[in-house]
Amino acid sequence: MNIIVTDHPDQAFQRTAGIIADEIRSSSTPVLGLATGRTMESIYRLLVQQYEAGMLDFSGATSFNLDEYVGLSAADPNSYSHYMREHLFAHVNMPDGKAHVPDGVAADLDAECARYEAIIRASGGIGLQLLGIGETGHIGFNEPPSAFDSRTRVVHLDEVTRRQNSGMFGNDPERVPERALTMGVGTILEARHLLLVAVGDGKAAIINDALNGPISEDVSATAIRFHDNVTVILDRAAASIW
Ligand code: GLP
Repeated sequence: MNIIVTDHPDQAFQRTAGIIADEIRSSSTPVLGLATGRTMESIYRLLVQQYEAGMLDFSGATSFNLDEYVGLSAADPNSYSHYMREHLFAHVNMPDGKAHVPDGVAADLDAECARYEAIIRASGGIGLQLLGIGETGHIGFNEPPSAFDSRTRVVHLDEVTRRQNSGMFGNDPERVPERALTMGVGTILEARHLLLVAVGDGKAAIINDALNGPISEDVSATAIRFHDNVTVILDRAAASIW
């Protein structure tokens, strides 16, 4: 595992964006696994800047987002589909139909999960998977406990996560959907390169659990220790306990 600790969060975002940009340039048809959350906003801003400067071309790219809230359509401003358009897709030349986010309002959610797995497989698999980490240790929305061989599925969100993510919902955890669709831990582990990024002292304890704690399905991020190609990018605050 390659662990990079930067002095400042901005340097962590720069390093992360640099690795994603290298992945995009490394192939005429890169397949990216993308994530949401506050941490990723600065990273997407840097990628958009590189695109606008003519340094990046997304025309051959395919992407798969990790997760989506159940019950929120792509038009809902709190959906991850909307987040991705706002922060990345609307600003770069990602081809229509190549930027995938699970459909949180699909009539048959289990069928949607199976469809998502199938299109990931059909793409040849994810080259680089970007990951954040939640307070529960989740990657994607793999709340405790999540089997390490779990696949894309419907999950119930932990109360801790609903509180953590309530900022977009008027700071009211009750308004955060109770369920989500998420790639499974097993799905995530199949990406060829995992790139986990965390900044700030609020992430220090869970980063320590993820990197040093017992490997456990109760902290899904510990699963990355089974993967042989992992990069973790932290700022000093997030690395302060580790
Ligand atoms: C959400 C996402 C996770 C992400 C987490 C971290 O829960 N489903 O994939 O890792 O947020 O969010 P933040 O970057 O806002 O701390």
